[in-house]
Amino acid sequence: MLSGADAVLKAVEAPLFWLGAAAAVWLSVCALYRLLSGLRVWILGNGRLVSPAALGQWAVVTGATDGIGKAYAEELGRRGFSIVLISRSQDKLDDVAKAMESKYGVQTKTISADFSSVDIYSSIEEGLRGLEIGVLVNNVGISYSYPEFFLSIPNLNSFIDSMININITSVCQMTRIVLPQMVERKKGAILNLSSASGMYPVPLLTVYSASKAFVDFFSQGLQMEYKSKGIIVQSIMPFYVVTKMSKIRRATLDKPTPERYVAAELNTVGLQARTNGYLPHAIMGWVTGSLFPSGVLRSYLMSIGLSQRARHLRKQKTG
Ligand SMILES: NC(=O)c1ccc[n+]([C@@H]2O[C@H](COP(=O)([O-])OP(=O)(O)OC[C@H]3O[C@@H](n4cnc5c(N)ncnc54)[C@H](OP(=O)(O)O)[C@@H]3O)[C@@H](O)[C@H]2O)c1
Repeated sequence: MLSGADAVLKAVEAPLFWLGAAAAVWLSVCALYRLLSGLRVWILGNGRLVSPAALGQWAVVTGATDGIGKAYAEELGRRGFSIVLISRSQDKLDDVAKAMESKYGVQTKTISADFSSVDIYSSIEEGLRGLEIGVLVNNVGISYSYPEFFLSIPNLNSFIDSMININITSVCQMTRIVLPQMVERKKGAILNLSSASGMYPVPLLTVYSASKAFVDFFSQGLQMEYKSKGIIVQSIMPFYVVTKMSKIRRATLDKPTPERYVAAELNTVGLQARTNGYLPHAIMGWVTGSLFPSGVLRSYLMSIGLSQRARHLRKQKTG
């Protein structure tokens, strides 16, 4: 004779078994899918998609004279794109253009514009008129010179304007200028440099982090709107890359040179609408985004920001 509890256990035994089995199958299928798509992206890649034949003859890169932007310009030039380089200083633009023409034998065009202003877009539009633009890299961006509490940011008023104009307005306005002809030709790729700092709030870099979250949302929404018209829009979210902005000088596995980062990132175009762009960064993105409880992550980022801020202020005092 079964007791009441035994009878209940007996009754739920079979359903629980099948529920467990279904969950195990589901988790295995998900893990297998992740593994296969990981292999597709990081081992096979989609390197040949980004070519003038597939997308259009010209590539436009903002912030093209240094760091990640310069690496995009060079890699796209190596792939045979003619390049429009846009940055602030004409001297630097001329140097990069000359180097690219002699290295890759490609046509270049330079437009000098300061993205901290908003009255530059009619002259950029004029400069791009008539070009068949296959790729737009919205790369230009600025960050904090050191982590700081919002109200203590030096020259806060102009800092806010510059950060929003350079990091946000440029992405929307450049897209407004270039997208119509991509839609007309039913092909083109818009690569937007967000940041891993846009994946979650990064305290003491709050304005930067929020501006990069904007770029991420803008890219995701735009991709949904224009996917069916043959346009690729990608949100790119790097962790540290060795550049002037990051102030990191020595490359390591998790802090690549811009060249290594860009070569890996271009393999993901057309495969990932949101990407960390580089396998070690994708692993870091998965760990921080999926494994860490968000409260723990925010406290951790706050403590890192505080210690970097303290180090900077100490150096300023002694130096
Ligand atoms: N480096 C990283 O670790 C990292 C990580 C995540 C995301 N990102 C993002 O990647 C992008 C590129 O960063 P980066 O590290 O390569 O930066 P970078 O080394 O500082 O280079 C920035 C480029 O933008 C140009 N630029 C700066 N301010 C400008 C302005 N007001 N008007 C026109 N051009 C301007 C610079 O030209 P000038 O020579 O005229 O100054 C330079 O060519 C940014 O959007 C950044 O947020 C970088």
